[in-house]
Amino acid sequence: MKLSYHGHSVVKLETGTHTILIDPFISGNDACDLDASSVKADVILLTHGHNDHVGDTIEMAKRNDALVVAPFELAEYLGSKGLNTHPMHIGGGHTFDFGKVKFTQAFHGSAFTEDDGTTIYTGMPAGVLLTVNGKTIYHLGDTGLFSDLKLIGEMNDIDVAFVPIGDNFTMGPEDALVAADWINSKIVVPVHYNTFPVIEQNPDEFASKVKNGKGKVMNIGEVMEL
Ligand code: NI
Ligand code: MN
Repeated sequence: MKLSYHGHSVVKLETGTHTILIDPFISGNDACDLDASSVKADVILLTHGHNDHVGDTIEMAKRNDALVVAPFELAEYLGSKGLNTHPMHIGGGHTFDFGKVKFTQAFHGSAFTEDDGTTIYTGMPAGVLLTVNGKTIYHLGDTGLFSDLKLIGEMNDIDVAFVPIGDNFTMGPEDALVAADWINSKIVVPVHYNTFPVIEQNPDEFASKVKNGKGKVMNIGEVMEL
């Protein structure tokens, strides 16, 4: 499988049969190398309703006839826009034809701001455990540090974790190092940094401090074979 990073919190997994995009914030994301008008997606997984995560989901899902998997209230909202959705919620797992999805908690907010400035609240934010072909990816979404990360690490054999380090809206590097330790993933990739001035961080410094050499900075567009 090919796992790739595309700036901010955008992650793509090509399983061989499906292309899965997580939090596809492409338009307005200067760090992203994807083209929203042509990118292929069979499945779009969303952690929460903030615009820097929902991104181009509405137009991309329509163009690709993609399935959108999201926390219930966000899925309901996107369903009202005509998308094919599968609502889930925190603690719940479901096995799809492309793999298994389980939503975890995340300490954050969740709302979508429409073009006219109207704010639509979209329930609770989440993290995503995605298991495909025996490999488990943990995308933490946007979150502060919480001690159940330790439990999640104990209960799951995580291969790659995408951990926010930007600070201000999410964990900063110091808390993210504690999270990385607790999650006990084989590889820890920092995300959600340097997209905006307020979340500027040094990802190399973070990665070098992750215990047992597990930290790995993925460059924009970099592909990891899984
Ligand atoms: Ni957010
Ligand atoms: Mn965010």
